[in-house]
Amino acid sequence: MASNPTRGRSKIDWATSRMPLLNELRTRFLKEQPFADLRIAMSIHLEAKTACLAMLLRDGGACVSVTGSNPLSTQDDIASALAEETNVSVYARHGVSPEEYDAHLEQTVADEPHLVLDDGGDLVSLLHKSPQPQVLGGCEETTTGVHRLRLLAEEGKLIFPMFAVNDARMKSLFDNRYGTGQSVWDGIFRSTNLLIAGKNVLVVGYGWCGRGIALRAQGLGARVTVADVDPVHALEAWMEGFDVAPVAEAVTRADLVITATGCADAVPEAALSQAKDGIVLCNAGHFNVEVRPDALERLSSSHRAIREGVEEYVLPDGRKLYLLGEGRLVNLALGDGHPVEIMDLSFAVQALTLEHMIASSPLEPNLYPVPPAIDEKIARMKLDTLGVRIDSLTDAQREYLGHSSSA
Ligand SMILES: NC(=O)c1ccc[n+]([C@@H]2O[C@H](COP(=O)([O-])OP(=O)(O)OC[C@H]3O[C@@H](n4cnc5c(N)ncnc54)[C@H](O)[C@@H]3O)[C@@H](O)[C@H]2O)c1
Repeated sequence: MASNPTRGRSKIDWATSRMPLLNELRTRFLKEQPFADLRIAMSIHLEAKTACLAMLLRDGGACVSVTGSNPLSTQDDIASALAEETNVSVYARHGVSPEEYDAHLEQTVADEPHLVLDDGGDLVSLLHKSPQPQVLGGCEETTTGVHRLRLLAEEGKLIFPMFAVNDARMKSLFDNRYGTGQSVWDGIFRSTNLLIAGKNVLVVGYGWCGRGIALRAQGLGARVTVADVDPVHALEAWMEGFDVAPVAEAVTRADLVITATGCADAVPEAALSQAKDGIVLCNAGHFNVEVRPDALERLSSSHRAIREGVEEYVLPDGRKLYLLGEGRLVNLALGDGHPVEIMDLSFAVQALTLEHMIASSPLEPNLYPVPPAIDEKIARMKLDTLGVRIDSLTDAQREYLGHSSSA
């Protein structure tokens, strides 16, 4: 990807013009400077919307250091445009090796952050291997990172407070569902140029992301099958009208498979060996472990890049299997990530939660939920920008529902 700061700057301008919530927060942050004298480290998919978030935090008074949260999700034109901003340091490049990826994380923590904004948990993990006393805490953007934090907190090993931004209603209900639901298809369309109508599509994992992906697959005219290990989620998918089947069975007839589980080997090697000829496989989950490229290599007699971002694996019996974006999250490896309006919501949650963390510091090391008042505030801000009005409870209704006072 070309490192053209002018093009990166205009992409950031476009995103800025579509992020009314961040723009509203910027006006207040410029005045109130909630992050004055603080350093913030971000590990995040570095594209235009995240640049807007970094600049918002900077405008709130912080010095911001940014690195990528995935080797393929950094856009170099954005990284170089962001690096030209004052009080922002960028350590990221598209297509980094695992060693470079780690080195960038290390450079980011070498800036001695007070606050951490993580996406997937790699930055927090590094700060647990090499603790720094000035760290006040931070926020985690995604399901996989929150899962890692929950394990640390349960083992009593979390050394600073973290907020589970992913689990906020204004994040997962919109970003994971409608954001992933749309952007995964964008990555698939751009890289394959295939028709979806009439195809057998298998969605593995029917959580927030899987629900969005399956919903949009249905709208595109696909025949959708869902596989999930959680019986409640499987039943929900069934009642939503989807076929439900185990992965090993469904891959024998699927034309396209999308994993969104956050779990390793969502399509195990044994199932890959039974896959239908021509199947296209891709992943929306955080790590490239759901459909493993090395498993496909072991099964195949040869492989080659057949289109940009599409690897063709030829099995000894002649069947061809295709993997998109090296099994990394397809919407970011092969697209621009979530729609800008969605990230306006998610990043408003991030910004207000970081502000809340500063106001409530010091907090005990623990994993904290985003306060419901932040969700409600963001929902109201968004409804306002849409010109949508809603009712409020009357005092009598509040009393009936057991609320003690009116808002
Ligand atoms: N691509 C993106 O932009 C994006 C956005 C948000 C979240 N994510 C990532 O997507 C993944 C899923 O997130 P989510 O919020 O939907 O999580 P979730 O917890 O809501 O849902 C995960 C679902 O997968 C199911 N599951 C787990 N292991 C499975 C297995 N081996 N086989 C079949 N089903 C299995 C679970 O039962 C659950 O229903 C995470 O890794 C998350 O970090 C990606």
